[in-house]
Amino acid sequence: MRLHVVTFGCQMSAADGGEMAAPILARGFRAVDAPEDADAIVLNTCTVRQHAEDKALSMIGRLRTWKAEDPGRVLIVAGCAAERLGPWIQKRFPYVDLVVGAKSIEDYPRIVEETLAAKFDALRETRESFDETASAARSAPVSPETPVGWTSPVVAPVTIMRGCNYSCTYCIVPHVRGRESYRSFETVMSEVRAKAAAGAREILLLGQTVNSWHARAADGRERRFTDLLRAVASEDGVARVRFESPHPHFVDDALITAFAEVPETCDHLHMPVQSGSDRVLGLMRRNYTAAGYLEKISRLRAAAPRIVVSTDIIVGFPTETDDDFERTLELVERLRPASAYTFKYSPREGTESAGMTDDVTEEVKEARLARLNALCDGLNDAALKRRIGTTVEVLDENGGYGRTRDGFRVKWGTPASPGRLRTVRVTGTMKRTLLGECDEQR
Ligand code: 5AD
Ligand code: SF4
Repeated sequence: MRLHVVTFGCQMSAADGGEMAAPILARGFRAVDAPEDADAIVLNTCTVRQHAEDKALSMIGRLRTWKAEDPGRVLIVAGCAAERLGPWIQKRFPYVDLVVGAKSIEDYPRIVEETLAAKFDALRETRESFDETASAARSAPVSPETPVGWTSPVVAPVTIMRGCNYSCTYCIVPHVRGRESYRSFETVMSEVRAKAAAGAREILLLGQTVNSWHARAADGRERRFTDLLRAVASEDGVARVRFESPHPHFVDDALITAFAEVPETCDHLHMPVQSGSDRVLGLMRRNYTAAGYLEKISRLRAAAPRIVVSTDIIVGFPTETDDDFERTLELVERLRPASAYTFKYSPREGTESAGMTDDVTEEVKEARLARLNALCDGLNDAALKRRIGTTVEVLDENGGYGRTRDGFRVKWGTPASPGRLRTVRVTGTMKRTLLGECDEQR
């Protein structure tokens, strides 16, 4: 039996995709790259913007023929769009076997088990042979507490919290993922240990507002995000720790000091700013001003000068004027992010801003996005070019390909040995990747 998992959306969603594969792999399925080769497909959807949702829905539509060729195949639609549109998806695409939303991730193994049991009982297996596999699967270490099946053995995502307690007016995430819940200190650490023992060298701590994590540990003491960061960094085998996405509100002295003091912490901070206009930030309910955001970044850069910053920006939020947009360009000039993800505002039904008129025309959104992208691409180019001629530390993720501590992708070819840290001399760039040579003697 073969399984194919398709994931749309953010890093959290990608990590969820690994968790969603786990109970199915534990049942004896093996992963395949091509959907047409699969007996079961999990489509892990995103709904953050209409475009993301449309991509997932059109893929469900395209899978109609795959499913018709063999009704014994299993199609599971999961994740954020499944949460938002569950019953509608089931009605619109009746051949989908199971729709399971993002809020049900903790229950997912049980729900999937039931679906597979019913399916295979009816169509494929005798009850007895199914029960054998099922009991083997039940004894396998599969639960949302110990996710398995992550994609890279070298860089391991570890989800430390789910949900979001903020209420940014444009954002669907709190609606589809619910309020914040934190995994315990001990659970996170045991997952880190297991993944490090299995060969992970870089741990990617994940959460919607990852640095708001806190929990009381077994010793009764409260642990904060920086305590966790330091604990993960000191685990045997862990060479690097990254985290995504931090919220500016929780970038405090403790985090700034940890960046400066803990050598395993990567020199990279991806922190969404969304706009440079205080008026728009207010309407978005971001709880900071442009100056406040920049002030945190300059404190961070003063403490840890090597740090590279990247960000997310939305253009065309309702009522955004030319003047507001100029403030965003100004902020980008001052922030100088090495890269930026830029988006046209997309109203999401059920969010607060969807109640405002989406009054910035498509043409204006396009024009603003083009200007912003030109500025950001220039900064990205300059950051890449500045590295030509320097030597960088790269973690080999995939045989001659990996990332620097500050988040740049690097390709050098040979020698290749996944899991090893390499010193690479940067000789050029190709698109957004650094090209380099690795001297074994160094
Ligand atoms: N429209 C456009 N972009 C959005 N994002 C989140 N919600 C919306 C929306 N409704 C962007 C933000 C966020 C990133 C993941 O997606 O920039 O940081
Ligand atoms: Fe998409 Fe947001 Fe869900 Fe991530 S959390 S998959 S960005 S809707």
